[in-house]
Amino acid sequence: MSQIPERTQVAIVGGGPAGSLLAHLLHREGIESVIVELRTRQHVLERVRAGVIEHGSAEVLRSAGLGKRMDEEGFMHEGVNLAFDGRLIRIDFMGLVGKYVVIYGQTELQKDLYQAIDAGDIPLVDEAEEVELHELVGDRSTVTFLRQGRRHALECDFVVGCDGAHGVTREYIPTSLVQSFERTYPFVWVGVLSPTPPVADELIYANHETGFALCSMRNRQLSRYYVQGSADDRIEDWPDDRFWEVLKSRLPSTVSERLVTAPTIEKLVTPLRSWVAEPMSFGRLFLAGDAAHVVPPTGAKGLNLAISDVVYLAEALADRYRTGSMTGLDGYSATALSRVWRAVRFSWWMTTMMHYFPGIAHDFERRLQLSELEYLAASENARRTMAESYVGPSL
Ligand code: FAD
Ligand code: DHB
Repeated sequence: MSQIPERTQVAIVGGGPAGSLLAHLLHREGIESVIVELRTRQHVLERVRAGVIEHGSAEVLRSAGLGKRMDEEGFMHEGVNLAFDGRLIRIDFMGLVGKYVVIYGQTELQKDLYQAIDAGDIPLVDEAEEVELHELVGDRSTVTFLRQGRRHALECDFVVGCDGAHGVTREYIPTSLVQSFERTYPFVWVGVLSPTPPVADELIYANHETGFALCSMRNRQLSRYYVQGSADDRIEDWPDDRFWEVLKSRLPSTVSERLVTAPTIEKLVTPLRSWVAEPMSFGRLFLAGDAAHVVPPTGAKGLNLAISDVVYLAEALADRYRTGSMTGLDGYSATALSRVWRAVRFSWWMTTMMHYFPGIAHDFERRLQLSELEYLAASENARRTMAESYVGPSL
């Protein structure tokens, strides 16, 4: 970036999905912003993460002019499958609630977002280190950062912290005002990308007595698989041979016999936790996405919450610049948190139903899991409830 601005309306810390979508939505409202991102563009664009876009998120992306490639290259899925006890049951989203999800990698969405940012000439300062926030209570705020050895100051009306689970902005909400809620789960997910055709047309979430497994995809020649590992596992503990063997052992044989394996091209180990900090704002600072809350990936909600947060925030900021009213911004935290907690509950429920929990009263827990899954198999109402949460509320 040639000239780093010294003044803007909204300073956005973090250029992941939350930060870059917010900048784009504000630009469409005629509101200026600057994104200040710690990593290089290439790093942000290459990160492999989420894959499921909720119905409402997909509609938001389309109405923001970001839906073209998603609709051409993504897959509209009208259901998902749950595997347990050698059986497979389908949750028919379209039949039950008339909605779908789109399978479209976060990596692809990030490309679309950065393209929109470049097209709108929105300043994106990458490799910005030591971000600090100043004067969050008062007339205007300042974000300072170090770039290529030089310290810069960006004056703004509002600061939005979109700097993810390991960001710094949330630390600026005084601890005396913050209440945090957390649950860590005693296992990890090991995820791979495999240059092979997906094993099924739709996602399969598998509950097995030895642990969870998930079959997902990116395109017709690229599959995404996850298996549950132990809390202290590292990538080195999961060579490809072990990964494929464990995955196969956790799927019904009708599925595993179709699985095509190959040397994997990406592997990650990700811990599972639920974490929410309330409130999501302080003075001129607003938090959005993983900076304010983290959910375990089982319900595929993290990226979708990042999207819903910034939709609420963009509307509130637009209202503030249009009318001078702070009502929307004052209500932002409560509005966003109500949706966040719905997703926290759903992710916790799916995590609890699908994983092996080492230690604690396992036989009892296992019977409860099987009973819950049997209930889903037997009851259309139960499946409708799950479908409603999986596809997500409207935005
Ligand atoms: P991030 O994507 O983390 O972006 C934060 C940005 O801030 C990053 O670019 C980072 O470099 C930058 N940053 C950090 N610190 C600083 C700093 N100090 N200064 C400046 N910049 C900083 N969600 C779903 O909805 N569906 C799924 O299917 C799904 N699957 C997942 C699978 C896996 C394996 C994982 C790990 C996550 C998954 N998620 C899923 C979650 C989803 O990826 C995240 O919730 C989403 O990336 C959150 O977006 P964000 O913009 O809030 O945060
Ligand atoms: C994917 C990730 C998830 O967390 C999930 O629940 C479903 C799919 C994925 O990466 O494809």
